[in-house]
Amino acid sequence: MKGIILAAGKGTRLYPASQHVSKVLLPVYDKPMIYYPLSALMSAGITEIMVITSKDDRMYFKRLLGDGSQFGIKLKYAVQKVQRGIADAFLIAERFIDGGSVALALGDNIFCGDDMDELLAEAMAESDGATVFCKKVADPHAFGVAELDKDGKVVSLEEKPEEPKSDMAVTGLYFYDKDVVRFAKKLKPSARGELEITDINRMYMEEGRLHAIPLPESVAWADTGTFETLLKASNYIHDVEKNGRAMVGCPEQVALSRGYITKRQLLEWVSKFKETAYYSFVKDLANAE
Ligand code: DAU
Repeated sequence: MKGIILAAGKGTRLYPASQHVSKVLLPVYDKPMIYYPLSALMSAGITEIMVITSKDDRMYFKRLLGDGSQFGIKLKYAVQKVQRGIADAFLIAERFIDGGSVALALGDNIFCGDDMDELLAEAMAESDGATVFCKKVADPHAFGVAELDKDGKVVSLEEKPEEPKSDMAVTGLYFYDKDVVRFAKKLKPSARGELEITDINRMYMEEGRLHAIPLPESVAWADTGTFETLLKASNYIHDVEKNGRAMVGCPEQVALSRGYITKRQLLEWVSKFKETAYYSFVKDLANAE
């Protein structure tokens, strides 16, 4: 399976902080926001990833992440010229997807929790249809909302409904089989003029091929679209990391634990940098017995 990170948004809700650069490059506590979705895809076992950016931001993403070889993965870049909607990612990446299955991670979505790896494996194991993660939220009208029946089957999906039928938000990490590009080509822009990811998910739902995995309380999820949610996410990650529980969103750590790189390669990579708190952690990983 291949992966896509969508990071071409204007981030207008974070102006002036993101006026000059993509919000997905802004820090969430101690690392750029994109490290989190990147680590999530890598943790799922995905090593070929396309990063979709705006034309202006592309060089900054490339400067940060390069070709991905430092993490033992392959990164490609593509530009979204006009913000036509999230589902446009599959049209932009059609050749990259090459008729296979693909996972899409929104650049501003952060997942954190020990159980996440197991849930990612569950999503990866599903070879037919689409798999989404849902999370109970206090403000469902701000998201795509899934209504589940008593067996956990999705029975309705709505994008930012005024009167949500449930409190289950569909989060920004999606797994699709080979049909996703075909479905994307059928889409018509919504009332707000976008190719909606919710419409793709609905097509799978109507064929009875949409799987929803509810995220347990142990997995935290943040969509870092506003100053409040960005600060909250930074504080949360700070709390988790300072309490010594874990490092969150560290591609080097995932690369090492998944065997994408060796300790020697990691040491070589990390020796290029000053010992910030982040790189001290990475250096310790590389030096550990
Ligand atoms: O965070 C989960 C939610 O993400 C889902 O529950 C919704 O169903 C889904 O539509 C989306 O809602 P948002 O309001 O958060 O979408 P937003 O327009 O903020 O876009 C999400 C990210 O994708 C953001 O980082 C910008 C980027 N993006 C968005 C569009 C529409 C692009 O790169 N290109 C685009 O054309």
